[in-house]
Amino acid sequence: MDYYKQIFKRKSFHIFKDTGVITDDEIQRLKDFINIIKPLNTEIKTEIHIVPESETTCKRGGQYCILFYSESKDEYLRNIGYIGEQIDLYLASQNIGALWFGIGKPNDMKINGLDYVIMISIAKVSEDKFRKDMFKSKRKPLSEIWNGDTLGIAEIVRFAPSACNTQPWIVENNSNDLMIYRYKKFGKRGIMPAQKVRYYNKIDIGIFLFILETCLEHENYTYDRILFADTSDDSIEKTLIAKYTYSSK
Ligand SMILES: Cc1cc2nc3c(=O)[nH]c(=O)nc-3n(C[C@H](O)[C@H](O)[C@H](O)COP(=O)(O)O)c2cc1C
Repeated sequence: MDYYKQIFKRKSFHIFKDTGVITDDEIQRLKDFINIIKPLNTEIKTEIHIVPESETTCKRGGQYCILFYSESKDEYLRNIGYIGEQIDLYLASQNIGALWFGIGKPNDMKINGLDYVIMISIAKVSEDKFRKDMFKSKRKPLSEIWNGDTLGIAEIVRFAPSACNTQPWIVENNSNDLMIYRYKKFGKRGIMPAQKVRYYNKIDIGIFLFILETCLEHENYTYDRILFADTSDDSIEKTLIAKYTYSSK
């Protein structure tokens, strides 16, 4: 899978229109792909189920919803973000449009003892419906999310998707270390309760880490990753999430 290429193509299909049909073969290939996904944390049990969108509260014109279930332990939210973004990018490669859908609920909030976390709604769309110029997408300026040398990756990583486009990340490049923070500006209140924002932003961070790693690999960097527990209740603005010590191949 050329994940890097799909970063430029993917986008959120907030409403699906003029859709085709996802075939049984395509679903089988998606399931085969799901079986080879690499999680951030192999110790956290997860299950992924694919159900008709009509069996959820999501009404965006998708054919199916991909439901993510997990043990609610450790950093399970970022683990789901990391796993789900691999699927999001895979779907773009198959001309299957996707929408991370945080506010949806499935019929089953628990499966095999695992808690429902989030869903992605999907539908078959034609290639020309995907993103043509990623650089026109709305994002924070680079200077707000990245300090230090950009390594040719910051310019791309900044297009990672996030709930309500919050982009809750800051990276500091200290010579050979990328310090990754989850960032929540003090006093900035949107329509969502703080606890919900934190929940989604922890998923966002997993999405961001996967896209960051994809970009590092594309630019021929090797890295050692150290992950930190994200225990902050947002009494601080910047919570250290991960440290990547990188070097050129
Ligand atoms: C964790 C997560 C949850 C999201 N939840 C919703 C949602 O409930 N409804 C919606 O319309 N879009 C949702 N989105 C899509 C974001 O609004 C979208 O990713 C963001 O605006 C950036 O746009 P892009 O994905 O087209 O690059 C969600 C995205 C993420 C990553």
